Amino acid sequence: MALSSPFLWFLGLLVSLCWCWGTTLASEAKVGYGYRMTSLEESTFNGGSLIGYLKVKQSTSKYGPDIPNLRLFVKHENQDRLRVHITDADNPRWEVPYNLLPRAPPPPLTENLKTSSHFSAPSYPGSNLIFTFEPDPFYFAVTRKSTGETIFNTSGFDFVFKDQYIQISTQLPKTASLYGLGENTQPGGIRLRPNDPYTLYTTDISAINLNTDLYGSHPIYMDLRNNGGRVSAHGVLLLNSNGMDVFYKGTSLTYKIIGGLLDFYFFSGPSPLDVVDQYTTLIGRPAAMPYWALGFHQCRWGYKNLSVVEGVVEGYKKANIPLDVIWNDDDHMDAAKDFTLDPINYPRPKLLEFLDRIHSEGMHYIVLIDPGIAVNSSYGVYQRGMQKDVFIKLEGQPYLAQVWPGPVYFPDYLNPNGVSWWVDEISRFHQLVPVDGLWIDMNEASNFCTGKCVIPTTHQCPEPNSTTPWVCCLDCKNLTNTRWDNPPYKINASGKSAPLGYNTIATSATHYDGVLEYNAHSLYGFSQAIATHKALLGLDGKRPFILSRSSFVGSGSYAAHWTGDNKGTWEDLKYSISTMLNFGLFGMPMVGSDICGFYPAAVPLEELCNRWIELGAFYPFSRDHANFASPRQELYQWDSVAKSARNALGLRYKLLPYLYTLIYEAHLTGAPVARPVFYSFPEFTSSYGLSTQFLLGSGVMVSPVLEQGATSVKAMFPPGSWYNLFDMTKAVISKDASLVTLDAPLNEVNVHVYQGMVLPMQRGGVISKEARQTPFTLVIAFPYGTDGAEANGKVYVDDDERPEMILVEGEATYVEFEASVKGKTVTVTSNVQMGKYSLSKGLMIEKMSVLGLQGKGKELAIEVDGTALVNTTSVYFNHVGEVQEEVEGGSKKGMLVEVGGLELPLGKSFSLSWKMEIVS
Ligand code: GLC
Repeated sequence: MALSSPFLWFLGLLVSLCWCWGTTLASEAKVGYGYRMTSLEESTFNGGSLIGYLKVKQSTSKYGPDIPNLRLFVKHENQDRLRVHITDADNPRWEVPYNLLPRAPPPPLTENLKTSSHFSAPSYPGSNLIFTFEPDPFYFAVTRKSTGETIFNTSGFDFVFKDQYIQISTQLPKTASLYGLGENTQPGGIRLRPNDPYTLYTTDISAINLNTDLYGSHPIYMDLRNNGGRVSAHGVLLLNSNGMDVFYKGTSLTYKIIGGLLDFYFFSGPSPLDVVDQYTTLIGRPAAMPYWALGFHQCRWGYKNLSVVEGVVEGYKKANIPLDVIWNDDDHMDAAKDFTLDPINYPRPKLLEFLDRIHSEGMHYIVLIDPGIAVNSSYGVYQRGMQKDVFIKLEGQPYLAQVWPGPVYFPDYLNPNGVSWWVDEISRFHQLVPVDGLWIDMNEASNFCTGKCVIPTTHQCPEPNSTTPWVCCLDCKNLTNTRWDNPPYKINASGKSAPLGYNTIATSATHYDGVLEYNAHSLYGFSQAIATHKALLGLDGKRPFILSRSSFVGSGSYAAHWTGDNKGTWEDLKYSISTMLNFGLFGMPMVGSDICGFYPAAVPLEELCNRWIELGAFYPFSRDHANFASPRQELYQWDSVAKSARNALGLRYKLLPYLYTLIYEAHLTGAPVARPVFYSFPEFTSSYGLSTQFLLGSGVMVSPVLEQGATSVKAMFPPGSWYNLFDMTKAVISKDASLVTLDAPLNEVNVHVYQGMVLPMQRGGVISKEARQTPFTLVIAFPYGTDGAEANGKVYVDDDERPEMILVEGEATYVEFEASVKGKTVTVTSNVQMGKYSLSKGLMIEKMSVLGLQGKGKELAIEVDGTALVNTTSVYFNHVGEVQEEVEGGSKKGMLVEVGGLELPLGKSFSLSWKMEIVS
């Protein structure tokens, strides 16, 4: 007899009620009863800090026994940074190695102050943050001194500290907007969504998986609050490399970590840019990038031979689309082995000829390497690695895994010998092929197998000509018998509570000095980036370029990042913005997604690719990359895409001096290249969740089309004047958060510059080497029709062959520009620091494009280095567009005043002024 559907429904309800009830009951079982403070003393350690001791109130057995005694170390490391470090008082515990991420170590555990019982936290006069606590049960809080606002407060939540399970929570006000905690594809946009899962553990899970722990681990969040108009941001880093689940519930946030210790750093902000500045002061500033790396990059997995690559370069040339860097995935390799060449498809003499040619044109070449070294006794890289004993081990033997070449061993970059061997292999490879940068992929580390494996005796592995080389062909058995492979608390790894060692190195494997993979897992890509950076620096002293898939706190000092394997869908196009913006906060501002999508498109590709290049042209790292199974998607494959590419990349190449100056700024202060709108407009609450538009620097707004079939875009602009960089007579004069509808025909993207900016631009071109030598135009954006308005900007130029980005006479020049309108006088001045470099390169300013003025120009006066220019016959005014007072839908037409025919050396300070003839 068939059951009636109401009955089934009732049964279902009953089952689900029981299930919920069951889980509620289970989750109510107490994991820990917290700690009681037994002492707190002011210590002279490192110029003043607090050291306290905590005793467990009652141990439970869930997830293992509690650690009986904890040591608390509190340090105001500087005015804006407070550190709270909690560890086992009796035994050293794992923490992120100090040589990998240099920072001040806490006092040794032997610092014995256990007997006293003093309970007041002294206030540190210069600090912006205050540490307070309750002794029994122990809670701590961090407040902002200026406002008394609590930014972190563990009170009222279980605090648990076991060997393999640590739990701590903070209260959060409803008004908090949180950002960060990645790497994660966030369908809800940049602002963290309460109840979405945030698991941090580096995993080879592709970017198409939403709300899952992806390739990198960045346990940092920024909290932005607007309390009745009083806006402030702060940052919280939990420096811990073990796997963790973070539960954000809206009014609380809970960390559940499976090892290591608690090492919190609180950054006081109060602006979002202050937070990134303070954060990157601790973890290391973003790496200097070579100029050419800001050009456009083309890659594909499946460039079967060198002629195909040559054809691609030709294709770009013919279509007149900018291209700076051509890449090889693993196709150039002999049987997917690192540091080798396929003798048939990529014969060395031919490859060298090709490289000579493209190098002489100013192009660059990058290839991929994976960490897995093929187990092959006739392969030199493997032989030398074995001799030097550089591989990660399991039960005393190199740990066997499988990646593209088949069976592999993984180098241990925590091993000094591993690093020197790697440096040597890169140097050997560079002699074989003079690559300009390296792409380190699969470094989570990715393994196609799981557990303890051996090379099979019954079948070949890899199968010759396998079409599924990613399917495990080793003989493996799961490892479940150690507490490292099978810890008591299961994080939500791979979005499905997969075993920790699933498709990676077994977590009971060991690194140098007995370090457990369990602890160091998420540091693998980071340690590889450090070793690779060292290798590239050592080659010929040129500024390295490294692209890394896996990343950790601090990776940005060594490498750029792309967001991994996405797909040709409109959703992926949209998600790429949030991930890119997150990496700015993570201190890795050189970031972008595979343009046009990596996995084969789920929709017709032409229109998507069209819109993707219009967005991707403004990713800090702009690369088209595809899977071998995808149709060809180089930008010249379709006329319409080529047209959009010429347009969007055309603007990028004109903006290169601005982008490069942003890289310099990032290198100095951590300020991201691509920024959420609220970074510049923290008071503009409507932008807190804005994830469909973004800023380059402080005021260049990119408003891409993200919807199929759309020919307009609804965009939000913080109040003020925004000028369209493609047609500067078009402006958006915004008054509030209402959406403005902008035209966006297929080949056009909306990019606007904000009032108050002086934007250094050049003529552009199809290769950065040439573009960077062309004359400059300063785009000066005044607020529309405002007397007394000011604008300013800057530009940094240098020789990008030097490893460092620093202002050294003869090697770099830095220029600040200031412009103002007062009454009828417009003035533009520059202030040059270290002008020699720019003078030696003959860099000139040829034009000023001035926006927002209401009058034509006359009576121009120019001074260079304090001397009036007498001969200004070549200089002219050009007035484009008419002033129209009507504002329709927030947009208006304005006048563009061009001062052309200038020949001002960028390296000399100038002053230029003219009178305005008011147009009625
Ligand atoms: C990984 C990378 C991808 C690359 C492929 C082959 O999937 O994420 O970009 O093309 O490996 O090397």
